[in-house]
Parts: sequence; C-alpha cells; structure tokens
Amino acid sequence: SLPRRVTVYEVGPRDGLQNESGVVPAAVKAEFVRRLLAAGLETVETTSFVDPRWVPQLADAEEVLALLGDAGRGPRRPVLVPNLRGLDRALAAGVGAVAIFGSATETFARRNLNRSVEESVGMFAPVVERARAEGLWVRGYVSMCFGDPWEGPVPVAQVVDVCRRLMDLGCDQLSLGDTIGVGTVGHVHRLLEALAAAGIGPEQVGVHFHDTYGQALANTLAALRDGVSVVDASTGGLGGCPFAKSATGNLATEDLVWALDGAGVETGLDLDALVATSSWMAEQLGRPSPSRVVTALTGG
Ligand code: HMG
Ligand code: MG
Repeated sequence: SLPRRVTVYEVGPRDGLQNESGVVPAAVKAEFVRRLLAAGLETVETTSFVDPRWVPQLADAEEVLALLGDAGRGPRRPVLVPNLRGLDRALAAGVGAVAIFGSATETFARRNLNRSVEESVGMFAPVVERARAEGLWVRGYVSMCFGDPWEGPVPVAQVVDVCRRLMDLGCDQLSLGDTIGVGTVGHVHRLLEALAAAGIGPEQVGVHFHDTYGQALANTLAALRDGVSVVDASTGGLGGCPFAKSATGNLATEDLVWALDGAGVETGLDLDALVATSSWMAEQLGRPSPSRVVTALTGG
C-alpha cells in the first residue's frame, strides 16, 4: 500500500536549472523558489556551491541566497556542496542544510567530481563532520544507482556499499539517484530490499528518478509501496546532469502530484499553482515543459 503522506523534495532550482545552457538571471531563480514555496513545497533545494567553472549556471549561488533572505535558510533549503570550500561558501550564505553527492560508479565519480569513489568519500568526510558540528541537516546523494552510461547496469551490492559509506559519515538521509533514468520497478525493489538488509531502511532514503525512459513515476510508486516517503521531483520536469551522458529531466513534480492526488496520498501541494509556476518558468526558458500533466492541463 501507499503511505498516507509523501514529502516532495523539490530539486527544480538546482537539478532543473544546472543543465540549462542559456543564462538564467539570479532574480529569476529566486522568483522560481518563491513561487515553489507559495505552491506548498516545504523542501526546496535552492542551488549548488560547486566550482563555478564546472557548473557556470549556478555560479550565482551567493546572489540567489541573498535575494531569498530567510526564505532560503533553515533545515529544508538544502544546497549541494562537494567539499570544504563549498561548505564554507554555504555557511557564509547562511544555509541550514547541505547535500553531498557521491557516485556508485568509478567512471561517474571521475567525471562529476574528478575523484575515484574512495577519494570522493574522503573529500566528503570532513564536510559532513563540520556540517553536523554546525548543526546542519545533511543529505547524501548516490548517483548511478541503476545504470551508468559508460559502465552499463550497476550491481546492487556496489550501490549498497557506497550508500553504507555515506550513511556511516553521518548523513541524515540518502537520495538514490537514477541519474540517467534506466531503472525499472523490479530493480527498485531489489535495491531497497538490499539496503534494508544492510541496515538502511526506507525511512532513511529518498528516491530521485530521471525520466529518460518514462519510468520515473512507476519507479517512484514502486518505492512508495516499499515504504519510502520522500520523493525528489522537479517542477515542470526540468533537469539533468551536464556530466552524465543521456541524462534528461527529473520526474515532474506535477506528474507526481497528479498521481498522488488521485490515490488520496497527501502532499500539501497545489497542482494548479505548480502548473502556473512551470508555465512561467517555460516562458523564461523559451520552451515548453516536457511534463505530460503540464501539457494536458495547459491545453498543449
Ligand atoms: P577539482 O578541479 O578536482 O577541484 O574539482 P580542486 O579541489 O582541485 O580545486 C580546484 C579549484 O577549484 C580551486 O581553485 C578551488 O578553490 C576551486 P584555484 O585554487 O585553482 O583557483 N573550487 C571551488 N570554488 C568554488 N566552490 C567550490 C570549489 N571547489 C573547488 N565548491 C570539484 C572538484 C568537486 C570541485 C568539481 O568536480 C565540481 O565542482 N564538481 C561539481 C559537479 C556538479 O555539480 N555536478 C552536478 C551535480 S550532481 C547531479 O546532478 C546528480 C544528482 O542530481 C543525483 C542524480 O541525479 O544522480 C545529485
Ligand atoms: Mg539528478
């Protein structure tokens, strides 16, 4: 059965925008976050404090947070940080939550973090330690949990190993990333089962599906039936990782809310306000939302 209530972890301003090639002004990013909050979202990942040469689109992280003021602070406004330099920047900007982001595969660790898996865990360890000492909430992403564009299908045991290592650093929550959207429902079940056997229960994980193969919603519902209740989604279905070949948008928040509303699962979200927000964002970006629900509700 499905949980009574699901927490939507909105990644549109971060995962959604990081892959955009055209410049999105900081004021538009801040307005996007404000509209998402007004639509009822409680958890919004606002930006990334990574090397700006790696992700130029999010080089304005400080400016976005300054524009947001208190709306960008607190334990439910995480930002991505890969290293102590990123954490220093995030703390100076007044954030209350951070997310480190590891990889289940060596190739993607190298391409996304310029490190092996082992070296990247070593880079994250002092970040998590210091973040916790500062009282921050900490999430640990694990990318390529199902398949990797260079390595193919990823063994469940290899994913569980990286998940275990990030939890052992002291993360409050994991997010299981299907970075390139190749996962299917049976695979989702097997991974959650193996994680539970390793002592990581569904209450400690969120799921993060990209919709490349149209499986994101099905996979999410499978995870919810297995006890997960935190779901990553991106309003309008924007998203993708510039360092992962063939990555496309995240599960659209509207698609998720349409499905959960229909099933009587509470999200606290206003679907019309989300659709209005992604239509507004589509105007800023100059192209329509890939979400089927948005397309249907806005008359195509
Ligand atoms: P590196 O080149 O190995 O870094 O990159 P370094 O530690 O050797 O430092 C080199 C220079 O970068 C130094 O400057 C640092 O100060 C600077 P220099 O001394 O040469 O002038 N630097 C920074 N500047 C500002 N902020 C920082 C920072 N760090 C270093 N935080 C690094 C290593 C990790 C920094 C780099 O690889 C990087 O920034 N990677 C980010 C990649 C990224 O953002 N990917 C997208 C997010 S992950 C994702 O989308 C997947 C997810 O959605 C889940 C899923 O779908 O699976 C989360
Ligand atoms: Mg992602």
